[in-house]
Amino acid sequence: MTDTTRYPIPEALKKEAKISNDLYLERYAKSVEDPEAFWSEEAKNRLLWREPFQEVLKWDYESGVIEWFKGGKLNVTENCIDRHLEKDGDRIAILWEGNEPGEVRTISYRELYEQVCRMANVLKKHNVKKGDRVAIYMPMVPELAMAMLACARIGAVHSVIFAGFSSDAIRDRMEDAGARVLLTADEGLRGKKTVALKEIADKGVASLDFVTSVLVHKRTGAEVSMQEGRDYYLDEEMKSVENTCPAVTMDAEDPLFILYTSGSTGKPKGVLHTTAGYLLYTGITHEYVFDYRKGDIYFCAADIGWITGHSYIVYGPLLNGATTLMFESIPTYPDSGRYWDIVERHNVNVLYTAPTAIRAIAKDGDALVEKYDRSSLRILGTVGEPINEDAWKWYYEEVGKKQCAIVDTWWQTETGGILITPLPGATETKPGSATRPFFGVQPCIVDEQGKELEGNDVKGYLCIKHPWPGQMRTVYGDHDRFIQTYFSRFKGKYFTGDACIRDADGYYWITGRVDDVLNVSGHRLGTAEVESAIVHSGEVAEAAVVGMPHDIKGTGIYAYCIATDACTQDDAAVQKIKDAIRASIGPIATPDVIQFVPGLPKTRSGKIMRRILREIAKGQMDGFGDTTTLADPDVVEQIASGAKELRG
Ligand code: WT7
Repeated sequence: MTDTTRYPIPEALKKEAKISNDLYLERYAKSVEDPEAFWSEEAKNRLLWREPFQEVLKWDYESGVIEWFKGGKLNVTENCIDRHLEKDGDRIAILWEGNEPGEVRTISYRELYEQVCRMANVLKKHNVKKGDRVAIYMPMVPELAMAMLACARIGAVHSVIFAGFSSDAIRDRMEDAGARVLLTADEGLRGKKTVALKEIADKGVASLDFVTSVLVHKRTGAEVSMQEGRDYYLDEEMKSVENTCPAVTMDAEDPLFILYTSGSTGKPKGVLHTTAGYLLYTGITHEYVFDYRKGDIYFCAADIGWITGHSYIVYGPLLNGATTLMFESIPTYPDSGRYWDIVERHNVNVLYTAPTAIRAIAKDGDALVEKYDRSSLRILGTVGEPINEDAWKWYYEEVGKKQCAIVDTWWQTETGGILITPLPGATETKPGSATRPFFGVQPCIVDEQGKELEGNDVKGYLCIKHPWPGQMRTVYGDHDRFIQTYFSRFKGKYFTGDACIRDADGYYWITGRVDDVLNVSGHRLGTAEVESAIVHSGEVAEAAVVGMPHDIKGTGIYAYCIATDACTQDDAAVQKIKDAIRASIGPIATPDVIQFVPGLPKTRSGKIMRRILREIAKGQMDGFGDTTTLADPDVVEQIASGAKELRG
């Protein structure tokens, strides 16, 4: 929060954007004075209902009840596909850029309709019924989006598992969700790497005897093992079924999907989102945050395995009839000019990516940006972690040449859609601030005791007061955990787990997590999850994991490990630990530093003082403040000297 200058709204946007500052202020005021009236009107205007809803909202945070538009009937795919067919059937729905530059597929709304119907019929053939959970472990290909929509067509609940996760992660998630059917692919391609998805998936489902069907999309055509009677090629199955499939009538509050995310315990939680509220919220935010205009080429570079891809590659854009650009590869392949190459070739108007990607490509210099024509760009979005000032300024000045609006969007898997964000034509920006709340969103900052801090220039825990339609409804299979995690610490409010500043202008600056959750390259990892994977290696008796500053990832992983007697404490042991983490979570959880320590700084009651471990990970080797409450204060000295040695 060093540069508090306000950056102006680009002139063109000031004139043409859908929401001006006056309109924002007026509509925001209305939306929070009478949220039900606001959302009821939006729901009627934006969604196609089979039967109207009677009640707008019912909520009680104490028992974790949140219901929007209950009783109203609709189908998500009818909203995202069918209703565009008559007028815009030929419009490109999915514009796919494959791993190799220029490897392109275009799928019109009409084609999308047909493919989704076929896939839905395949699911039906495999006995998938309304309410059944279906796991999807696929690379970034159009078939992934189609698979989600095929589930929605017949009322099945999809659970997408990020294609970078391991077989253990697949097993745990499918077990928790009780998913009998898995959709996957032979292989995935990410830059120069080939990922053996089917092989990983096979290991994942090996011990799950309830799994009856594994449907395999041929991405590369590689030879993979297929188990007779369980495994089928999706593409072949799709040929033999009809190209229409009735959309199942769903209640507004029927589940749409489960997406697992890390929390402060070792077990990821299944965040459950439902039908109407989620769809409405992703649609309205997609339209206003990205100032979406008909005909735009809209490019969200996230992976569909995370909530950003669900909400802003698939559901929000398709509800609005947009052309959504889906990118299979990584921003640095074949070089760091790839985004701008895509922008030039496809005339991209809106780009939405993450600070970690911005930092990774900024590091490779401006020449790779300058090489390409970026004049089609109007909006540049960022999400996933606080964006540092340098990255923000590079994005604004170098990529956008000060002509584009930067939208730093704050939200979470749990919130379904963007909650705090600038609006391109309405909000003057400040580098690193997510600025102001979206319509209907009532953020508040509370202190340790839960007292709301009124006025500006305050700092504390970020909570949200009133429900919004995109909010998660429960933790799948564990409603108590839902209440415990989000509504118990601060009564009557949704607790985000983030710390936050509201500055003198009322702008919000999210400063990071206050729980044991790390944000590594914008991906969420629980320290407990990583610790348990480390102990699982057999090399380590006890581990403590903390975040450390990292130039590209934002936060890196520093693991302090107490070795077992059998452990050799050398490179080979470090490798075994890394392998164990890859097997139980995936490569994203690999620690940047692994340090063997004689003990951990614990209080007499056994609680690890992570503050000290974070300071050492940062490079601070003394001045740890009060350590008198530690059971063994000497251990701090030993850890610090070990850390110095490790750094060389
Ligand atoms: C956590 C949520 C929402 C999709 C991607 C991550 C952090 C997210 C911002 C931002 C500062 C941000 C928060 C949040 N975060 N966006 N613009 N500025 N912090 O979703 O994995 O559920 O993680 O990411 O700490 O709580 P997620």
